[in-house]
Amino acid sequence: MTTPSQLTARPARSLAGVVRAPGDKSMSHRALIFGAMASGVTEIEGLLEGDDILATGRAAAAFGARVERLGDGHWRVEGQGGLKSPAEVIDCGNAGTGVRLLMGAAAGYPIQARFDGDASLRKRPMKRVTGPLASMGARFDWLADEDRLPVRVHGGALGAIDYVQSVASAQVKSAILLAGLNASGVTTVLEPEKSRDHTERMLRAFGAEVGVEEIGEGWKVSLAGGQPLKGTFVAVPGDPSSAAFPLAAGLVVPGSEVTVEGVMLNLQRTGLFQTWIDMGADLTISNRRQAGGEDVGDITARYSQLKGIVVPEARAASMIDEYPILSATAAFADGRTIMRGIGEMRVKESDRIALMVAGLQACGVQVEEEPEGFTVTGGPVRGGANVTTHSDHRIAMSHLILGLAAAEPVTVDEPGMIATSFPGFVEMMNRLGAAIGEA
Ligand code: S3P
Repeated sequence: MTTPSQLTARPARSLAGVVRAPGDKSMSHRALIFGAMASGVTEIEGLLEGDDILATGRAAAAFGARVERLGDGHWRVEGQGGLKSPAEVIDCGNAGTGVRLLMGAAAGYPIQARFDGDASLRKRPMKRVTGPLASMGARFDWLADEDRLPVRVHGGALGAIDYVQSVASAQVKSAILLAGLNASGVTTVLEPEKSRDHTERMLRAFGAEVGVEEIGEGWKVSLAGGQPLKGTFVAVPGDPSSAAFPLAAGLVVPGSEVTVEGVMLNLQRTGLFQTWIDMGADLTISNRRQAGGEDVGDITARYSQLKGIVVPEARAASMIDEYPILSATAAFADGRTIMRGIGEMRVKESDRIALMVAGLQACGVQVEEEPEGFTVTGGPVRGGANVTTHSDHRIAMSHLILGLAAAEPVTVDEPGMIATSFPGFVEMMNRLGAAIGEA
């Protein structure tokens, strides 16, 4: 199938149906990487087969693991109990999580690896990870510009560090912990807010001991070096960050009722759902259960007249990828939705504050930009715009959802990157009654 150069969402009548979100992106990266570091077989079910994850799967193989696809979302990784120097460049595509976690993993072995990525990933800062890894003893050669890919990593004998993060980042925490697995001593990471803890949980499933405690200034994660990982079975639940899109459509298109089944409900990932409830959304969770060591449930969104709120800044870490779709739904709310303390959005796959502000304004929405946030004043949305996405999957999907409830169609450019996190997004939305297509 060729990738369309643009996609248009037309105003929809009402959406209805039950769908399943694709596998969680964060857990899918981790399952492949940990499986490659472990000895023995890791079998994964529900793996997200998006482009980012496929790049991590190729990287796992290049580092010496045997990686096989057994069926839809069903993968087998046979690790060698450590990583080997790859013969080829590790191209992580669009994936910040892939490259940052892999750099941390590679740093702990006596190997060399050259990392690279696509144009968007080459623009993103890497020193937040290489800085602490260098203080553990790894070396980095910047092959173009400092702090940017491509970079060559020289791993080796590492010493543990105590690292204090100024902004909670699960990628930085995870890179340090993965390096810490092969460092001498106990590595600790202190974060001001608790960021997603899939690394801590999954490392335990692979047989490592990881300590987590709440202390005065935040959360402290600790891990002793010299712990081997052992292959295991990983069931990947549905990605809440992807489930957000069909649920958002259910909330903003009048008369809709949309259910997404099997959504991971890890508290470090559900900030958006709480925020929508605070905004008056009719959002219900049923069939709560456990899957893959995580809480999971089915979420139903019914059309709701939302009202604007001030989103608590302390919630940012639990919904940092969700502000684009939150702001698209806030465009239909009564009053102002104020989102602050989210400067990190500017260094994601794109500058997501700048692109949401520009896209929403092009659609006739009143938006004010701040250095570390933005405010959306809701009301009826005109739409009728061509939106620039800079190939950012979440910017594209957020504006397509906006277009379903706007007065006029909304078109996004460069939609190919949607497959990075949500393969089958357009087909799923159209099954629910949306009209998203190439024209
Ligand atoms: C992720 C952590 C977050 C998030 C990203 C996935 C992870 O990034 O934005 O999409 O899987 O660890 P930061 O750690 O930079 O906040």
